[in-house]
Amino acid sequence: MHHAVIAATGLYTPPHSLSNAELVETFNTYVERFNAANAAAIEAGEVQPLVPSSVEFIEKASGIKSRYVVDKSGLVDPEVMRPIIPERPNEEISILAEIGVKAAEQAIARWGKPASQIDAVICAASNMQRAYPAMAVEIQQALGMDGFGYDMNVACSSATFGIKTAADYIATGSARAVLMVNPEITSGHLNFRDRDSHFIFGDVATAVIVERAEDATGGWDILGTRLKTVFSNNIRNNFGFLNRAAPEGIGQPDKLFVQEGRKVFREVVPMVSEMIVEHARDLGLDPTALKRLWLHQANINMNELIGRRVLGREPTPQENVIILDEYANTSSAGSIIAFHKHNDGFGAGDTGLICSFGAGYSAGTVFVRKR
Ligand code: COA
Repeated sequence: MHHAVIAATGLYTPPHSLSNAELVETFNTYVERFNAANAAAIEAGEVQPLVPSSVEFIEKASGIKSRYVVDKSGLVDPEVMRPIIPERPNEEISILAEIGVKAAEQAIARWGKPASQIDAVICAASNMQRAYPAMAVEIQQALGMDGFGYDMNVACSSATFGIKTAADYIATGSARAVLMVNPEITSGHLNFRDRDSHFIFGDVATAVIVERAEDATGGWDILGTRLKTVFSNNIRNNFGFLNRAAPEGIGQPDKLFVQEGRKVFREVVPMVSEMIVEHARDLGLDPTALKRLWLHQANINMNELIGRRVLGREPTPQENVIILDEYANTSSAGSIIAFHKHNDGFGAGDTGLICSFGAGYSAGTVFVRKR
């Protein structure tokens, strides 16, 4: 058995920031136009009028102030309200693999070793470019690596499931170094005409290199990894290749992200808090002594509540990192952005937690110790 280390991380932030005000202005223009176009049917009670969104609600309910997106032009056009991302010829790398490569290149540069020393690529994300070939294989090809790669999807928990898989490959000797990449173009699966959820997500890509402890200089010892899934219908995306076979037709909105936000809040907070505390205790760690939490960035109130339950006190902003305000929910990448941007001030032996949670339900915990 070999110990695994998080050796380096990388982050790719798309060029366009989209504020709540811009998003709400577009949404409310769409609402006005819809209500005007359907005035007679609304008057007759045949059609429900749409209700405007508000910047104040979004910030208070979610903690989100802005998000990054790969295309902004379509998202601020009330006639479009989806990202405009032209198809690419097969000879070109796909956009999801491309942003994954950008994050991976930064991680590899920080690692300081050639990509050829990586044995495997795991592309762990919520929504894949296509069924096959795998994006991971495109990323492998773009980085000029041997070995193997594949895609895996555990929704918002994909990164911690990916880190555990990588750590297990290291432990068993299947690989000496693994690249785990999380490209998320969440704007592609978000219904920007849905008032309840149009503000939730943002685009980004993150990358993590996990390697054998004997080969690593610095980095973070992985003290333990744990995964959990419990079936729930409260977060779904029913998009898939069998949609075209359904006599009902493709139809909105369940082929995009849908959730019962309140239920998710109520059910996921206790599940994740208990999982963290139990896993810490099983590893001989005091959860209240953790120096920092890098939680999945779902919702400010959810993250603060989990932070309080785990640390047993009101966490400081340094203890419970929030990047939601700038990036929004970036699905699998959220906890990795938090870890990547805010891992300073740790001395050798200090411990922290990377934790994800999301659809499935799924949750993953990765306890790390600074080397
Ligand atoms: N603008 C203005 N008002 C809005 C609105 C919007 N965009 N969306 C909803 N509202 C209104 C509702 O109509 C409702 O009004 P009412 O009280 O008069 O009926 C009120 O705000 C509360 O709506 P609700 O949907 O209950 O809000 P909430 O406080 O639960 O917040 C979420 C919604 C989605 C932010 C929240 O439930 C959440 O984040 N849950 C966690 C789920 C999660 O993070 N999932 C991501 C995957 S891990």
